[in-house]
Amino acid sequence: MTTPEKLVALAREARGQAYVPYSGFSVGAALLCADGTVYQGCNIENAAFGPTICAERVAVFKAVFDGKRDFAGIAVAGGRAGQEVTGLFPPCGVCRQVLREFCGLDFPLYLAKEDGKFETHTLGELLPISFSNADMG
Ligand code: THU
Repeated sequence: MTTPEKLVALAREARGQAYVPYSGFSVGAALLCADGTVYQGCNIENAAFGPTICAERVAVFKAVFDGKRDFAGIAVAGGRAGQEVTGLFPPCGVCRQVLREFCGLDFPLYLAKEDGKFETHTLGELLPISFSNADMG
């Protein structure tokens, strides 16, 4: 049984895979599926900058490719590459919107902080008055 604490630890671990020669910020994500499986992601940067992809989207897209669309939570950990997490690294707006495609407003995000601590926020808090497939008629 994966706990939020274990999910946050997996997000911290995922930072180790980040490819971040430009920003120097490594980010890791760990996405918990409803069936209990976990998908990790890291940010992958590009010399053209625009093609850079965030850790959260890597985790979501890996899961979706494997046929998973029901998610129970995500942990995110970020900070200067090679250093411990010193504070929140909040998900960007694009990643919040990608999560909204598959997750309800009560979906929990566990955002890593210093010393193994984390904060829990819902997607509804982070993306209020959101646009989703429910608005597509
Ligand atoms: N980044 C993420 O991986 N997730 C976010 O939600 C915000 C930003 C990455 C993108 C880039 O590689 C670095 O952090 C600095 O923006």
